[in-house]
Amino acid sequence: MARLLVTGGAGFIGSNFVHHVIENTDHHVTVLDKLTYAGNRASLAGLPEDRLTFVHGDIGDAALVDGLFAEADAVVHYAAESHNDNSLHDPRPFLDTNIIGTYTLLEAARRHGTRLHHISTDEVYGDLELDDPARFTETTPYNPSSPYSSTKAGSDLLVRAWVRSFGVQATISNCSNNYGPYQHVEKFIPRQITNVIRGIRPKLYGAGHNVRDWIHADDHSSAVLTILERGEIGETYLIGADGEKDNTSVVELILTLMGQPADAYDHVTDRAGHDLRYAIDSTRLRTELGWRPRFGDFESGLADTIEWYRTNETWWAPAKDATEAFYASKGQ
Ligand code: NAD
Ligand code: DAU
Repeated sequence: MARLLVTGGAGFIGSNFVHHVIENTDHHVTVLDKLTYAGNRASLAGLPEDRLTFVHGDIGDAALVDGLFAEADAVVHYAAESHNDNSLHDPRPFLDTNIIGTYTLLEAARRHGTRLHHISTDEVYGDLELDDPARFTETTPYNPSSPYSSTKAGSDLLVRAWVRSFGVQATISNCSNNYGPYQHVEKFIPRQITNVIRGIRPKLYGAGHNVRDWIHADDHSSAVLTILERGEIGETYLIGADGEKDNTSVVELILTLMGQPADAYDHVTDRAGHDLRYAIDSTRLRTELGWRPRFGDFESGLADTIEWYRTNETWWAPAKDATEAFYASKGQ
């Protein structure tokens, strides 16, 4: 049994990871989360109290972080400002949390010699052309586009520097787009599902040709646990499940699965600097660490996700109106 500290464990992917760890291991989990607009204590409801401790706080609070690192065997770092559209509107919180917050954790890991796994994104590699057969690998040069992805790239580089300069025991993973339960309604898939539930037409940015490489959040969690247990210190692993889909196809599939005409959506103002395509080659994780995704079929994973939003309206409804008002103010 290990004592895991999970930063951002009340967010979308962090809470999925906490559920995964509690269901599949005997580890104790302490969550450190600031409960920003994106954090939700209800995402951890029902988990056994003797397996989970919740600490409300900021990863930039060095004294708090130091005390928590002193009691942890390993730390998994999910906490971040995560939404590209928000980073275009107000970049500052992205610098504070993604850069200074990660720096604060690295200094604690350095003092205590704590094992740290840093969660990052495929967006650090920039984007690919639609007709390019290439996919991102661990050696693809960094080329981030947005304030969000550039702060994630900065945080990855800090981790690499702290490994090399100070011997911090860290690994990094860069994952593609996640879907599943507990995702905030600002993000593409839950926004469209909850729009259809509310009788609002789904909103597609620009022409809708952009491609994302979808992975179920539970597969992301199993990959992170694998890296935490068997990953090589100082190394980076890409996480992906061969799930490339263009945005139009995803909207049409959501509408069809929800019993609506496939063309019942609107095109809206495109995102500034909108990355065209992401695609992950996860060969390293599969061959060196033996990881495999469990959710091979995107359509059935999406159907489960739709069902989750239908039956958990009390979880997402409080955020829906403000989110749509924000988008409406941007013509989106
Ligand atoms: P999210 O926005 O749903 O959750 C972020 C969580 O971090 C929230 O609970 C929030 O309250 C917390 N948080 C924010 N600032 C904090 C601070 N200063 N101190 C403590 N807690 C703070 O994000 P997500 O989509 O779950 O993403 C989690 C991580 O995974 C991020 O690092 C993100 O870059 C990465 N990632 C996300 C995806 C994706 O598809 N969503 C894909 C690859 C990687
Ligand atoms: O690739 C990993 C990244 O995936 C993570 O690092 C980010 O934290 C996560 O938010 C996600 O970034 P994206 O920008 O790809 O996700 P988002 O859900 O915002 O948008 C997915 C695609 O859908 C993107 O091409 C923009 C488009 N979109 C989005 C919204 C909200 C629309 O067409 N309409 C919308 O209403």
